[in-house]
Order: sequence, then structure tokens, then C-alpha cells
Amino acid sequence: MDTGLPASLTARMTQVRDRVAAAIDAALDAQPAGELTDAMRYAASGGKRIRAFLVMESARLHGVDDAAALPVAVAAELLHAYSLIHDDLPAIDDDDLRRGQPTCHVRFSEATAILAGDALQSLAFERLADPAIGSAEARIDLVRRFAQAVGAQGMVWGQMQDIAAETATSPLNLDQIVALQQGKTGALIGFAATAGAVIAGADPAPLGDYARNLGLAFQIADDILDVTGTQETTGKRVGKDAAAGKATFLSLLGLDRARAEAQAMVDRAEAVLDVHPGAPQAAENLRQLARFVIHRQT
Ligand code: IPE
Ligand code: IPE
Ligand code: MG
Ligand code: MG
Ligand code: MG
Repeated sequence: MDTGLPASLTARMTQVRDRVAAAIDAALDAQPAGELTDAMRYAASGGKRIRAFLVMESARLHGVDDAAALPVAVAAELLHAYSLIHDDLPAIDDDDLRRGQPTCHVRFSEATAILAGDALQSLAFERLADPAIGSAEARIDLVRRFAQAVGAQGMVWGQMQDIAAETATSPLNLDQIVALQQGKTGALIGFAATAGAVIAGADPAPLGDYARNLGLAFQIADDILDVTGTQETTGKRVGKDAAAGKATFLSLLGLDRARAEAQAMVDRAEAVLDVHPGAPQAAENLRQLARFVIHRQT
């Protein structure tokens, strides 16, 4: 983790990581023992847990306690873990390293990895039914928003555009790249960052604005790390986007302009939170997270 972070943010990120890890373990302990669950556990461990953090801090911002937000944070991370397993498969990005370890299909088998991804997705949806979250209305609202964020109008759509761009005859323009990235990465981040408002029955629009800017800045940073990062710090192979002909902000704007765009998005994300004066620590943590997202090395 970046040591330049404020102590309060580091402490909260560590707390969220530990609680989410324990809750994911408990959810997996309830599954039948065997290779499928082993592969699920393998793929769901580690990571920065940024999506979980967004759920927990957006909840605090709305006076929702950690116990209610935790199953939603777990759902976001399980879904993310499934998306990474499938993203790394030979038919998609064909990666052999993830979070500093062999990817799930390398460690187990391709068939096991596909099925572990499927089962992590189901488990993610199951977590949203947990009564600890709150009213049945709130849970149904979360389920609908989650499904919309991660399916054919969100993440999976973005992944499909990402693949299509590799073989497109003309390069994508900026609007098309923004749309692709808002789907592939932004939609789940948007779900996570607005979850607290949804649990509380509050207006999710301001956090939606924050998340749109954060999500794009996050993916630009991911694309920059693919060019400037190292395998040791990122825990994954680098230099793969250009080799595969991926459509990224970098491929269109170059490094300096992509960095400037990401910074401008972080500035906008931070400004949006000024409408939440009631929970200064949570708002400040979310601002700090936005800064972390573009300065991270991992
Ligand atoms: C990587 O996400 C995949 C993208 C959507 C760019 P993260 O950088 O959040 O990965 P982990 O969870 O920390 O490993
Ligand atoms: C992954 O994007 C997005 C999803 C898994 C939905 P990338 O392909 O850019 O992520 P990395 O670089 O492999 O982590
Ligand atoms: Mg990919
Ligand atoms: Mg990838
Ligand atoms: Mg990437």
C-alpha cells in the first residue's frame, strides 16, 4: 500500500480489508468443500478492496453502520473477483499473473476457473439478500442496481467493447473510450460508491457523479500502470494493452494528457463531496481515496 497516504485513510482501508476478508471467508466456509470452493477462495483473496471501501464509506456518509454495509461490500468484491478470473482467461486477456500470484486458470484449470467465476457471481447476488442490510425494499433496489451495473448494460458490455476494439479497423474516439471504460470499470465502482445512499434510501446522484469521475480516473491509472508500472509493484504483467491493441486513454491521448485528464477527474470527484457536510471524516476519506487512485503504484 502507498505509504504517502494519510494515517486515517490507511487505518480505515486496513479495517475494511480485514472485515471483508473475514466475511468472505465465512461466506466461502458455507460452500461445499472441494476444488470449486478452493478456486473461489484463491481468486477472492487479496487486492486493494477499493470497491468494498467505497461501499463502507458511502454508507458512513449516510449514517449507515458497518454491519449493514458489510454484505454489500462483500458482494462488490466477490463480483469483482469473478470479473478478474474471466478477464484473465486465455480467450480474453490471457494473463498468467494476478495479485502477484498465478491466475486462477493457471493455478487450477481453465474449466475450474470459469466455474469459480460463475459461482462467485452467484454468491455475490446472494449476499445482497442478507437481512442485516436493511429493508426488503432497499435490498431489492440494490439487487436491481447491481444487476444493471455488472451485466449487458454495464461491466460485461464494457468488456465486450474492450475485446471488439482490439480488432476494430479504425481506432475508437474519445467518447467511445469513455463509454467503454464507464462500462468495464466504472459501472461496478458506481454501484459501490452509491450503495450507501441506496441502503439509506437517500438520493444517490451526488455519489454517482463522484463515482463517474473516480471510475474513469481509476481506469486511466490502470492503463498508465500498464505502461509505466512494474510486475513487482502491480502484481500483474505490464505492457499488455499496447501489445493487444487495447483502446485506452493512453493510446489516444498519450501519457501526459492522460495523466492531466485523470487529475482533472479527481478534482471533480473531490468537489462533488462538498454537498455532504454532515459526515466530514467519511467525505474526507472518499476525497483522499480519489487522490490515492491516481497516485497508486499497485
Ligand atoms: C483491476 O482492479 C481491474 C480493473 C478494473 C482495472 P483493481 O486494481 O481494483 O484490482 P485489485 O482488486 O486491487 O487486485
Ligand atoms: C479489467 O480491466 C476489467 C474487468 C475485469 C471488468 P483490465 O483488463 O484493464 O484489468 P487488468 O489490467 O487485467 O487488471
Ligand atoms: Mg481486460
Ligand atoms: Mg486484464
Ligand atoms: Mg488493465
